[in-house]
Amino acid sequence: MLPIILIARAIFPEVIAKLAQHFEVATNQTDESWTPAQLIQNLQGTQGVFTTGGERIDAALLAACPDLKICANMAVGYNNFDLKAMTAAGVLATNAPDVLTETTADFGFALLMATARRMAEAEHFLRAGLWTSWRYDLLAGADIHGSTLGILGMGRIGQGIAKRGAHGFGMQVIYHNRSRLDLATERACKASYVSKEELLKAADHLVLVLPYSASSHHAIGAPELAQMKPTATLVNIARGGIVDDAALAMALRNKTIAAAGLDVFEGEPAVHPDLLTVPNVVLTPHIASATLPTRLAMANLAADNLIGFLKHGTPLTPLNPELLTKR
Ligand code: DGY
Repeated sequence: MLPIILIARAIFPEVIAKLAQHFEVATNQTDESWTPAQLIQNLQGTQGVFTTGGERIDAALLAACPDLKICANMAVGYNNFDLKAMTAAGVLATNAPDVLTETTADFGFALLMATARRMAEAEHFLRAGLWTSWRYDLLAGADIHGSTLGILGMGRIGQGIAKRGAHGFGMQVIYHNRSRLDLATERACKASYVSKEELLKAADHLVLVLPYSASSHHAIGAPELAQMKPTATLVNIARGGIVDDAALAMALRNKTIAAAGLDVFEGEPAVHPDLLTVPNVVLTPHIASATLPTRLAMANLAADNLIGFLKHGTPLTPLNPELLTKR
């Protein structure tokens, strides 16, 4: 009998076809939004689940799904997994790193440019028929070239953004991270390590690329925003909850900082209503990794983790590899 797996969200048909060569596959191609109870119900009897970053896998779910052996996330971030509970339950977790790095760094840089150069505001202005004449300071923004780029969280995506800034735009790059990078990597990124306080104070543009955890919750709130330059821009492509969205909306309204670009939100897909009413923010619906080739590569990696583990005991990108040595 083939192992049974569940694909919790709509996904590329070719990835379903690949999985169907190895498993009995249950799908959700109508992309219904399941409650935790419905997810549990649909997981009964399944050995593996393909998740996309939104499905919460916690102790309660694991206790109710005793057959589950692996959860494969089609995302590099895995804050939807309670990794400790999964490891305790002997359930393997995998994510989808690397394949999205350059695409996501491209988007981070695009959002930075759109924010600093006020592109969304300018487009709304034009569409509203407000463009009637030239003016010396019409929608004037901040320069990217030659400015100081700050990066909070210097993993693979942060390094990709640093390289784009340093090599492409002659930016001075500073970063803060839990641990300092080795010198060769710093040199490749032309990046200097600074304290978080120095980062907040010195950056003309601050990009957040750190993982979400209890310790990064509201890493940027009112006190941090108050330390930034009034001309600064803030970009969040990491996770909602890293920024205190209510405090940010107030800082944008009061011009504590100049502008923000946000791809992720606390409680998304809901967006804090105050953010919707400030003009100096560019808002996008969590699409930093969204090109079709990259999304396909992410889906294939999640699928290959399911196949690798359930068929051969060798997943490609395990998050709790200690479970493998116990088998
Ligand atoms: C990730 O992979 O964590 C991204 O946020 C998904 O788009």
